[in-house]
Amino acid sequence: MGQSHILWHETAVTKEERRRLNGHGSCVLWFTGLSGAGKSTLANAVDRRLTERGLRSYVLDGDNIRHGLNRGLGFSPEDRRENIRRIGEVAKLFVDSGQIALTAFISPFREDRDRVRDILDPGEFIEIHVDCALDECERRDPKGLYEKARRGEIPEFTGISSPYEPPGSPELTIRTDRLNIEESVNRVIAYLEETKQIE
Ligand code: PPS
Repeated sequence: MGQSHILWHETAVTKEERRRLNGHGSCVLWFTGLSGAGKSTLANAVDRRLTERGLRSYVLDGDNIRHGLNRGLGFSPEDRRENIRRIGEVAKLFVDSGQIALTAFISPFREDRDRVRDILDPGEFIEIHVDCALDECERRDPKGLYEKARRGEIPEFTGISSPYEPPGSPELTIRTDRLNIEESVNRVIAYLEETKQIE
């Protein structure tokens, strides 16, 4: 059956009603950065802080998604694009459900991130560049992947043999090689307060 036979159903309960029920806005905190920059650590720490304030949030994380929803996708530019496209669609569902979605993926290509921004309403896509010098990521090397990539054992490794395109004008940049985790979380929370997503 062709796609033209599939109709979009309006939901009985609107996004605004769900937001009112939750008592806060809903949006995507899109963390992007090199492997080892601290995306997952920061996303999970923000999630913890939001949860402790009684707000509804959820982290979509690289490794978990690649084991489930996106099992079978690799690291070619095409597979990364599809990885990010699907995650963007899932994040949009979370926004429609009135929650704050936090995504922690390298998402190295600007065009792929911009496509996610485009499927969301204005103000719903909050791009956070988790910025850390490649040297420092390589020094941290929490999973030993940089060492393997340098030995040529992992092809197309971001920062080594595959590009990372930093955001042109992200809503936030967090320098994890300069700020500690507490300071980094505070920056994100302050942004959500300033933009009235949360009180
Ligand atoms: S992407 O580029 O957004 O599709 O990547 P993502 O889904 O975030 O997955 C990145 C994690 O996969 C591991 N890994 C690699 N990363 C980069 N390049 C290559 N070739 C690669 N192969 C495996 C790596 O552990 C990444 O985890 P993080 O948490 O970013 O360190």
